[in-house]
Amino acid sequence: MGNVKYLMVLAIAAVGLFAVPSMLATYAGTHTVEANAPDTTDGSTSGKALDCRECHGYIDNAAQASNDSTGIYQKHINGANDTTYTTYLGYYGTDMNSDAANISVFSGYDLFFTANVNKSDNKVLPGDRLGHKNGTIDWYVVQDNLGGNTTGRVGNKATDSYGGKAWSGCLFCHRAAFFYGGTHTRVQVRGCTNDWCHGNNATARPDGKSYMADIPGYAASKAAQTGKWLNRSSDAHNKWFNASSQVQDSYINAKTGQPISKDYYTCMGCHTHANVQLSITKSTGYDATLTSVGSGAINAVYVVNTTNTTQLYSYKEGAAFKK
Ligand code: HEC
Ligand code: HEC
Ligand code: HEC
Repeated sequence: MGNVKYLMVLAIAAVGLFAVPSMLATYAGTHTVEANAPDTTDGSTSGKALDCRECHGYIDNAAQASNDSTGIYQKHINGANDTTYTTYLGYYGTDMNSDAANISVFSGYDLFFTANVNKSDNKVLPGDRLGHKNGTIDWYVVQDNLGGNTTGRVGNKATDSYGGKAWSGCLFCHRAAFFYGGTHTRVQVRGCTNDWCHGNNATARPDGKSYMADIPGYAASKAAQTGKWLNRSSDAHNKWFNASSQVQDSYINAKTGQPISKDYYTCMGCHTHANVQLSITKSTGYDATLTSVGSGAINAVYVVNTTNTTQLYSYKEGAAFKK
């Protein structure tokens, strides 16, 4: 009987496949292979055309759940569209500058940095100096002999552009090609606290700001210095942030191959609907004991007992994705 029931369920399921064409459509059309369409401007093909939302639509929905979440999502989409910034990320630059000496040598350019990775098409090689053309969002090779590589690349357009799509925001945070991780899907998870994004407690920069602060438009933004502020001992959430940074995540940094740290969970704790369980040990308490010995002058002996007083537990309820 049990088997008969099971077979009936299968039969219904099979009929269901015909009754719901959209389910079949998912795997239909095997003769039409979707290309990861190349970008005609620079020939790069890194995860630009495949729409993440076809399968991960729930994330797009969650990002648009309220005006607040949409606003933050939109800021990341804006970031994806800003090639002044994404080219810096894409070429793994660390030294953006607007030095007067460079401006006078490379006229028509106002920002400069050195490329630290090999673009797959060899139009830009490590050591090449890139220049941001005045009044545009485009970057070009302005000097190509710094890394000891052969010449002939001056004038190559370096812009690493993949914005302008409804799902560009996904790529902004997940695109492995920013750091040339080379995963086949070109997708990885990186935390908010990445050095090139909001920064962390180890950002080795003079003022602790992330590399985002090198872009003139973001130089003074809070977003470029979040990690720096959380890393100040005077910040009330500093201990939480630092303790989280000692814990390894399951996700791997595509560039280093090492697990990323869980410090970004702190950001998600406050800024998302994720659950947070708190266990806070309150400050150390003092018990003073005053003992009077003998007559005459009084000797006072203070014994200070330092004991942890209270442990507080609390729970922020929610789900990673807003309901
Ligand atoms: C055809 C459906 C499909 C499409 C399109 C798709 N994904 Fe996925 N994605 C999956 C599946 C299935 C998994 C879970 C794989 C697993 O469990 O190991 C996944 C997992 C992920 C993960 C999590 C990996 C982890 O370790 O937890 C990320 C991040 C991700 N996808 C991002 C993207 C992005 C960004 C895009 C667009 C470039 C995209 N996906 C397009 C099906 C898809
Ligand atoms: C602001 C940066 C950011 C944006 C924008 C973003 N993600 Fe994520 N995503 C993350 C982070 C950080 C995690 C890891 C969360 C964790 O550790 O639990 C993650 C996790 C994921 C996962 C694995 C967990 C899961 O629930 O499946 C998938 C899949 C994923 N993202 C896909 C997407 C897609 C698709 C988009 C665009 C619709 C997108 N993400 C937009 C930062 C982002
Ligand atoms: C203790 C809760 C808390 C933590 C932890 C936290 N934030 Fe915030 N964040 C806030 C609040 C509250 C605001 C709004 C007030 C303000 O701007 O200071 C804010 C503002 C911001 C802003 C907007 C600034 C602007 O220009 O308007 C950004 C970006 C941001 N946080 C990113 C992060 C990142 C990245 C992390 C992790 C490194 C993080 N936050 C950790 C609570 C938190």
